[in-house]
Amino acid sequence: MEKIIITLDGYSSCGKSTLAKQMAKVLNYIFIDSGAMYRAITLYFVENQIDYTNDITVQAALKNISLAFDYNAITGSSDILLNGRNVENEIREMRISNLVSDVAANQFVREFGVAQQQKMGLQKGIVMDGRDIGTTVFPNAELKIFVTADPAIRVARRHLELAAKNPGITKEEVQANLAMRDEIDSTREFSPLRKADDAVVLDNSHLTREEQLNTALQWANEKINSISVQ
Ligand code: DC
Repeated sequence: MEKIIITLDGYSSCGKSTLAKQMAKVLNYIFIDSGAMYRAITLYFVENQIDYTNDITVQAALKNISLAFDYNAITGSSDILLNGRNVENEIREMRISNLVSDVAANQFVREFGVAQQQKMGLQKGIVMDGRDIGTTVFPNAELKIFVTADPAIRVARRHLELAAKNPGITKEEVQANLAMRDEIDSTREFSPLRKADDAVVLDNSHLTREEQLNTALQWANEKINSISVQ
């Protein structure tokens, strides 16, 4: 069977990573969470007090950053390593979520992220989720999915997830963070979030995880079969 590249883009907290992870498992593909890469860069900038508005400082700092993924048998997906250190939990903290979209809007941060993501796709057999994967990173991907969900449903889902680790967090805080990130991600100058013209839309507002997985897998299998018989 031919292997393909599958991209999943969409707004924050639409369930892209969950779906991408499940698809990769069934297809025996590699799952890459591109957002984790921007979050790890943001963590590095916070820890080293890097001014992300200063391009010279940003370019110098990026030279000291090495990112890798390490398979975690307990969660069944890969944890991100920042200079060899597992930062999978830290990058999900609100202090990083509040800053990551600003950092990810920097031109040099984007070039750094995109170049590494493109290398990861050379062998195909990959499911990558993010904001610009179907438009900038893999414009020739065989299957592009644009995931959407009703904003109120996204807030409720994200709140539930974050409240498990941080019981004090309010729905208002989560709503403000999602709204801010959506705005920055879709209006930035370099590779803004937008649906690729050839992407299929998956609105999962009223779908169970199983239903959305089945829909996406059907699209993937149709594509893989059509390429394999050519
Ligand atoms: O998917 P996520 O919420 O973990 O992503 C964190 C941030 O990283 C998101 O607010 C925007 C940025 N991002 C990006 O600019 N491009 C990507 N391909 C993935 C994420």
